[in-house]
Amino acid sequence: MFEHIERVPGDAILGLIEAFKKDTNPQKVDLGVGVYKDDQGNTPVMRAVKQAEALLLKNETTKTYIGSHGAPAYADAVLPMVLGEGSPLLEAKRASATQSPGGTGALRLAADFVAKHLPGKGIWVSDPTWPNHHGIFTAAGIELHKYPYVDAENRLDFDGMLGALKQIPEGDVVVLHACCHNPTGFDLSREQWKTVLEVLRERSLLPLIDFAYQGFGEGLDEDAFGVRLLAENLDEVIITSSCSKNFGIYCERTGCLIMVAKDQEQMENVRSQVAIVARENYSNPPAHGGAIVSEILHSAELAAVWREELTEMRDRINTLRRDFVDSLKPYGLDQKYACVAEQRGMFSYTGLTPDQVDRLRDEFGIYMVRSGRANVAGFSQENLPYLAKAIAAVN
Ligand code: PLP
Ligand code: LMR
Repeated sequence: MFEHIERVPGDAILGLIEAFKKDTNPQKVDLGVGVYKDDQGNTPVMRAVKQAEALLLKNETTKTYIGSHGAPAYADAVLPMVLGEGSPLLEAKRASATQSPGGTGALRLAADFVAKHLPGKGIWVSDPTWPNHHGIFTAAGIELHKYPYVDAENRLDFDGMLGALKQIPEGDVVVLHACCHNPTGFDLSREQWKTVLEVLRERSLLPLIDFAYQGFGEGLDEDAFGVRLLAENLDEVIITSSCSKNFGIYCERTGCLIMVAKDQEQMENVRSQVAIVARENYSNPPAHGGAIVSEILHSAELAAVWREELTEMRDRINTLRRDFVDSLKPYGLDQKYACVAEQRGMFSYTGLTPDQVDRLRDEFGIYMVRSGRANVAGFSQENLPYLAKAIAAVN
């Protein structure tokens, strides 16, 4: 029965983890998979998370199913984080949150919902985007299209994006990255979000906003600007939120699908259908990560610890971005890679070509995605001089 099955190469991003582990170069540097690292190259459990887990261990009384929408306490904690404290949407009961196995699970719920309830509608993703967007939407049977996002000079191509959005058939779904665009690190300005809102409204397009890095760009509220602008000004919006990065709970698979509808009645209808989609995929989401997040966000003390740690991570990344560009000055390459200091979030589209990426790996043990995407959190004060020397060597 299995004779015809062909072996395929593994996921390009996840494959870098294995390749890096195998490399024996003592100076090797991992700029691959999007996981936060400290200056020692570790991805530690956050202090607030450890404290929340200690409380959970002490107070947990059952491991029973938590239901297809997940824990209400998690939804109550995440909705204001994403939509804003005192959001008019929450007041009007227009938003529903369904806990999911990570942002990926939320994306798959959204994809299956669109495929089932908006048949024939296409989905539009930025070119480039997180490669798994292609996988998830295609797996749900949705026709996938691209809109331009980066120009040949490695800059945000907002005119190209806008031109393409204006041509998209009415009712199609447009995937937008809320902040910290993966893979490029180029985010929309507030003015650009306002322009996108107008086009979405004019053309009756449905935004699906992927919010996987809240707090990693400028701040928890600042990063939510586009999400809140669209959600407060359009009748229908889909948001996929992830707690993997901002709580550092990657392996706990914690996220949610937020559906915003025109009124409470429509929200309840949509919500009932999302429960079916979740049930058919995995029945109930895993509980532990959501319990950590709600434990933290419902405690003023733990929330303060967590916000401080998140700020430390964000500040570290933004400092490293500037230091990286400075480290290239002696080689006369600071202008060429100046974009790295301007981009936001974990990733930078460096402009390094696939050939240069291959040389960095083979000759220097420096690992990044072949598109030239580097995980900035993999930079450190210690490895920046080595990185600069290596980049100069392949230029
Ligand atoms: N969306 C984007 C743009 C991402 O970079 C990621 C990264 O992991 C995800 C979604 C999925 O996040 P999660 O690990 O929570 O599934
Ligand atoms: C990445 O893009 O490296 C991260 O988002 C991890 C992943 O799942 O791909």
